[in-house]
Amino acid sequence: MHATATPAVDLNALKGVHRTFVTGVTVVTTQHEGTPRGLAVNAFSSISLDPPLVLVCVQKTSSTYESLFGSRHLAINILAADQLDVAQTFASKSQDKFATIRWHSGEHGSPVIDGASAHLEAEICERLQTSTHTVFIARVLDAQHSDRAPLVYSAGGFYDGGRLLPVGS
Ligand SMILES: Cc1cc2nc3c(=O)[nH]c(=O)nc-3n(C[C@H](O)[C@H](O)[C@H](O)COP(=O)(O)O)c2cc1C
Repeated sequence: MHATATPAVDLNALKGVHRTFVTGVTVVTTQHEGTPRGLAVNAFSSISLDPPLVLVCVQKTSSTYESLFGSRHLAINILAADQLDVAQTFASKSQDKFATIRWHSGEHGSPVIDGASAHLEAEICERLQTSTHTVFIARVLDAQHSDRAPLVYSAGGFYDGGRLLPVGS
């Protein structure tokens, strides 16, 4: 038995730290048993270019989770600055999120959202478990981008990624 337990990190301090980290907004989608599924995700990162690996973290309580876990492929749609409504739809618990948006099936079968800034289609190669989330590691099979500015997420707010001010010279 340990004499002193590791002190728990202060949750407000932790939230404060996370609020300083600026991200884009993605919608992670999959086609499972003929039904398109998806949720808004900002826990997205590139792992490496060669091999072309990316990761997304998805909470196990998400209604999309089981479909994603059971799928071989997924798509990561990086939303454009004029797609706030799409972000809100996929951050909701709506039963049919795809009914109100424009989308098509990508080359590898996952739903691709029309008008997004960019998208990747990828094959899931690892599902790393934590108690509340699964980290999906996936190998990119197709990568497409446009000149549409991305939607930016910072400290709970959404911003136009086309109107960022440069710093430095
Ligand atoms: C900007 C933003 C980022 C989010 N990022 C994540 C994320 O990285 N992982 C996650 O599991 N949920 C994330 N969420 C929450 C889910 O999108 C939300 O819980 C959604 O309702 C899940 O839908 P579902 O239960 O229909 O799958 C995020 C929400 C927003 C608004």
